[in-house]
Amino acid sequence: MKLCNNYSLLPHNTFGMDVRATLFVEYDTVSELHDFLLSETFGKHRSHFIHIGGGSNLLFAGDYHGLVMHSAICDLTVVEDTPNSLLLRVGAGYVWDELVAYCVEHGLAGVENLSAIPGEVGASAVQNIGAYGVEVCDVVEGVETMDLQGNLRIFNREECRYGYRDSIFKKELRGQYIVTHVMYRLQKSPVFKLDYGDLRARVEAEGVPTLKAVRRAVTAIRDSKLPDPKVLGNAGSFFTNPVIPRTQYESLKEQYPDMPSYTVDDTRVKVPAGWLIEQVGWKGRVLGHAAVHDRQALVLVNRGGAVGAEVMELANRICDDIYNKYGIRIVPEVNYIV
Ligand code: EPU
Repeated sequence: MKLCNNYSLLPHNTFGMDVRATLFVEYDTVSELHDFLLSETFGKHRSHFIHIGGGSNLLFAGDYHGLVMHSAICDLTVVEDTPNSLLLRVGAGYVWDELVAYCVEHGLAGVENLSAIPGEVGASAVQNIGAYGVEVCDVVEGVETMDLQGNLRIFNREECRYGYRDSIFKKELRGQYIVTHVMYRLQKSPVFKLDYGDLRARVEAEGVPTLKAVRRAVTAIRDSKLPDPKVLGNAGSFFTNPVIPRTQYESLKEQYPDMPSYTVDDTRVKVPAGWLIEQVGWKGRVLGHAAVHDRQALVLVNRGGAVGAEVMELANRICDDIYNKYGIRIVPEVNYIV
């Protein structure tokens, strides 16, 4: 187990903020986590701690005057092998895209559309990551956790109460359980989901769809729109796409006939936040050391040397402009850490 005081979080946040944690703890096994949770050190920091994953969805306001925990549980085992599917149990610290690569390599279908998403397995199940018509909850069978007293609890998929970028671990049980492993059910015969944007055209241009072709196409689409955090600090989509009543959407549509939408259910629609940001003129605009990405307005970037407050100020100004024009409140997907 790694335990460091006054620790730089630069390698642990894709926004590239050079901030420090009072104490940083990284554990390698479930039993190390258990012992740490029962230790005096954890007792001292219990009232002010966060547990991070790959740091791809975080914005630090400044130094973190508390404990930062990180899982380095990185095992992968096959728990069940049936004629149609395979059940994998994967440690929370396993890098998400390495898991997708493993699945594609072994002919296991279900997560290929989720290629090239930054972050780790633990966060995938908390955040319900999604892209190109697939959400990770489609394949999650169970989530193994530990509460802060060191007791194990397994949540089945229903108990996780998944929604769009949402789960029980972000709401009612926020901060109360630490994910140790996630169980994913992958299929041996792929059912391709290619109906998002130009994914089908790109995949079929290569011939008959394969898992590898989908992975290549998704990675190429993402690379063309989303900045590489190693080059330009960012946390992917900064905002979630707002879900609004269909009645509100229909009256807005009369005034703004080009407003795109995705149906959520009979009474609600989702409006792309990237479109709203672009319409109020923020796409590509700079504010101090922060900016709105010029190829995907949903992504805010650190141009180098930005502090959390600058990015938050930019986010607030965008939200206000959208609210004033459309009466829609967009909210950050990124977690502000203060
Ligand atoms: N749009 C614009 N201007 C922009 C960006 C988008 O007008 O600058 C409009 C376009 O009409 C476009 C629509 O928004 O057709 C949707 O854009 P896109 O297909 O790029 O997807 P998104 O809604 O912007 C969501 C996820 C992404 C995910 C893509 C693909 C959220 C918050 N974001 O973005 O997730 O990759 O769909 O499925 O739901 C992430 O979470 O970090 C992430 C990148």
